[in-house]
Amino acid sequence: MKARFFIFQNMENNFWQKINKPILALAPMAGITDSCFRQICKDFNADLVYSEMASSSALNFNSKKTLELLKFSEKERPYVVQLFGNNPEHFALATKIVAEKIKPDGIDINFGCPVKKVFKQEAGVSLMLNSKLSKKIVKAVCANSRVPVSIKIRSKIKNKTAIDFIKNLSEFPIKAIMIHARSYEQGFKGEIDIKIIKEIKKIFKGIVLANGGIYSPEKAKEILTETKVDGLGIARAAQGQPWIFSQIKDFLRTGEYKEKTQKQIFKIALKHSKLAFKLKKKQGIREMRKHLCWYVKNMPRAKELRQKIIKAENIIGIEKILK
Ligand SMILES: Cc1cc2nc3c(=O)[nH]c(=O)nc-3n(C[C@H](O)[C@H](O)[C@H](O)COP(=O)(O)O)c2cc1C
Repeated sequence: MKARFFIFQNMENNFWQKINKPILALAPMAGITDSCFRQICKDFNADLVYSEMASSSALNFNSKKTLELLKFSEKERPYVVQLFGNNPEHFALATKIVAEKIKPDGIDINFGCPVKKVFKQEAGVSLMLNSKLSKKIVKAVCANSRVPVSIKIRSKIKNKTAIDFIKNLSEFPIKAIMIHARSYEQGFKGEIDIKIIKEIKKIFKGIVLANGGIYSPEKAKEILTETKVDGLGIARAAQGQPWIFSQIKDFLRTGEYKEKTQKQIFKIALKHSKLAFKLKKKQGIREMRKHLCWYVKNMPRAKELRQKIIKAENIIGIEKILK
């Protein structure tokens, strides 16, 4: 019975096992990890990139906007599409739609989002409290996916731990887990739970990526050494410094890494802006403003630069500010 359900999951194309370790992944961020930002992170050696979370229900209702959100360039591979929602049937169809129309390398299920709007629908991290429904969702995705399925979870919600949660899913062919090692109650702040990462690495046979609070190459090395995980998920540290991936790699290899000069940062920011305009036109420029503010964050005159950036209307305007 099991074999029939997961026929597509006994596949050769488990890209997770083919990436060199440690795997440095750009973690999913709604409103941030669009194709443009993912491409920039790939330029700086991110091994793997996740989409922004996409609603499985919206995909069922043929949302063009959601399909647009998931488009990617070949350069981004391996590329993982992350789905969220609360309806197993919607997940099943969304998985098929994504396979047919987007063709990513993997599908990820969001069990970590604490945002009220998502939580209230019993999606995201609130699913960690519902063993039955989360099982049905994982089963629906695994049974309909031709590419490896992964999950993104939190360390804990109320008294339910990530360990309880993944034990409940042990019958499914999940290939990778990204663990945001902060509890639901912690939100996005505070120390990560190293102990739970280590425990997951011990009991889960697939790939484990640790996530949360990895803001420097030193921290990356510390977590890799301490937990022995297969890789890391980097989220906010990549904002305004997509080169963090190559810095971590340099540091792991040589014990050293270089900071970017202001001139180099401006050059990267301009390249990013041009790509944003190419892919999303005016909307790309509007979305670019927050990235530009992150790029200049630690510079002298950052405040003055930010005041100009938030009014930027086009590439020429951005170029003027950066030059
Ligand atoms: C603005 C923003 C959007 C996010 N969107 C998603 C998302 O779509 N899916 C998801 O699984 N996690 C999402 N996250 C969580 C991140 O992937 C990550 O787990 C979290 O930020 C902790 O990592 P960090 O400390 O490196 O930032 C988001 C985080 C931020 C800050």
